[in-house]
Amino acid sequence: MLDKTDTEALQREAFRRDVLDGLSRPTKTLPARWLYDDRGSELFEEITKAPEYYPTRTETAILEANAGRIADLFGPEAVILEYGAGAGIKTEIVLAALDRPGLYVPIDISGDFLKASAERIRARFPELAVEPVTADFTADFDLPGDLPETGRRGGFFPGSTIGNLDEREATAFLKRMRRHVGRGGVAVIGCDLKKDVATLVAAYDDAAGVTAAFNLNILTRINRELGADIPVESFAHEARWNPATSAIEMHLVARHPVRFSIDGRTFAMAEGETIHTENSRKYDVEGLALLVEAAGWRMDAVWSDERGLFALVGLVAS
Ligand code: TRP
Repeated sequence: MLDKTDTEALQREAFRRDVLDGLSRPTKTLPARWLYDDRGSELFEEITKAPEYYPTRTETAILEANAGRIADLFGPEAVILEYGAGAGIKTEIVLAALDRPGLYVPIDISGDFLKASAERIRARFPELAVEPVTADFTADFDLPGDLPETGRRGGFFPGSTIGNLDEREATAFLKRMRRHVGRGGVAVIGCDLKKDVATLVAAYDDAAGVTAAFNLNILTRINRELGADIPVESFAHEARWNPATSAIEMHLVARHPVRFSIDGRTFAMAEGETIHTENSRKYDVEGLALLVEAAGWRMDAVWSDERGLFALVGLVAS
C-alpha cells in the first residue's frame, strides 16, 4: 500500500508533467481535473449555487419529479454504481426512492473525497451497504469481483460530466459502464442540452465572478505547488461557445504579453493568447441517443424540465 505522502508525491509529479506538457503545446491547455484542489472544489460548490448556473438545480428538480420512475428502472435490490462521488443531494434523492437497494458503490479518483461522501451516505442510510471504489473513471478499471448479485446493476452519472469528455472518451466511458453493469444492466445519466448561446455562456461566466475565480485558481495552484511565478492578475477568464464541437470552452486569456517560469522552464504568451482549461459539450436528445447506441445501450426514457434545459436519460443494456 502507498501511504499518503507517497500518493501526494506521485500526484505532484503527475501535475508537474501535465502542466509542463500542456503549456508547451502550440495551443496551450491544462487538463481540467487539476481545477479541483481544495479551493477549486469549494469554488465549484459555489458555482452550482450561482443564479446563472442552471444545470445543478434543474437536474435536481428533474430527479425529484421523476424519482419513482427512476427507481422503477433500477428495480428492487439494485446495485448502484455512481461514477464520480460528488453529487451529494442528487445521490440521496435516488437512493431514497429505491426499493430495498442492495449496495451503493461510489467511484472516485480522490480517496479523501470518496471517504467523506461514503460517510455521509452511511449516516443518512444506515441500513444501506456502501462499498467505495477508488478509481479514475475516465480510464479502464475493474469493479471488485465480489459484488453481491441481488437486483440489477445500475450506473448513475449525473452532473453532465459526460459533456466534459470528448466523443472518443465519452464512448469509451459508456462502453466501460456497459461492461460494469453486465447483461440486464441499466443506467441513468444527466446531460445538459443545446440551447441559446447567451444562456450557455452566462452559466460559465457568472456575474459574481465565481467561475472566473474557479478557472484562475488553477494558476494559483501551479504557483503554489510547482514553485512557479505566473502573474495571475495578467489573465482573464473567458467562456466561449464553439459551434463546431457544440461545446462551451473555458479559457484563461493573457491580458497583455506575459512571461513566467515553472520549474526552471520559461514560457511566453502573447496578448490574447489563451490556455484552454475545460470543455462542456452540449447535446440534443437525438445526438445523445446515437452516442449511447454506439456504446451498447438503448435509450429507454428521457426525463426533462419544462423548458428543455437539461435531460436525465434512462439507458438499458442492449
Ligand atoms: N460538469 C460541469 C459542467 O460542465 C462542470 C463545470 C461547471 C465546470 N462549471 C464549470 C468545469 C466551470 C469547469 C469550469 O457544467
